[in-house]
Amino acid sequence: MALVLILQLLTLWPLCHTDSAPSVPPASYPKPWLGAQPATVVTPGVNVTLRCRAPQPAWRFALFKSGETDPLLLREVSSELAEFFLEEVTPAQGGSYHCCYGKPDWAPSVWSQPSDALELLVTDSSSSDYTRENLVRLGLAGLVLISLGVLVAFDCRSQNHAPAGVRP
Ligand SMILES: *[C@@H]1O[C@H](CO)[C@@H](O)[C@H](O)[C@H]1NC(C)=O
Repeated sequence: MALVLILQLLTLWPLCHTDSAPSVPPASYPKPWLGAQPATVVTPGVNVTLRCRAPQPAWRFALFKSGETDPLLLREVSSELAEFFLEEVTPAQGGSYHCCYGKPDWAPSVWSQPSDALELLVTDSSSSDYTRENLVRLGLAGLVLISLGVLVAFDCRSQNHAPAGVRP
């Protein structure tokens, strides 16, 4: 019975464990914002900086990767902005990230509402595959247009010729 309760608690436990501190009203601590430099779609080997911006000065920041309950990176900075450096990223580092911030008077396990998720895509195939696919699509669309044009041209011709042939 106790085991079932514990399991239920575990599944209900949110990613950022805000419920462990009822003294923290989540509404007055809005979610932070997470952004990526130079971009969210990069080639492997690029140094990516993830910036977490809190709506008010915080004390510590945590970067989470989706599917993992423990913070991936922690930063203790008493400001509104924290930077997380992902050096020379690999495709495995691609995925969904979000960040949270903590205030000095909160317990260490207490985090703000999570930011919106940021999707990082690390691929060397950025985009050239997409370009090729798009070129193939454009080519096919062009072929269809040309075929239609040819059909219409033939149709016009046969219509122009038909009355001429009927005339005496
Ligand atoms: C990434 O950062 C490391 C350490 O700061 C640096 O040595 C390396 O040259 C950087 N790589 C690129 C591709 O900018």
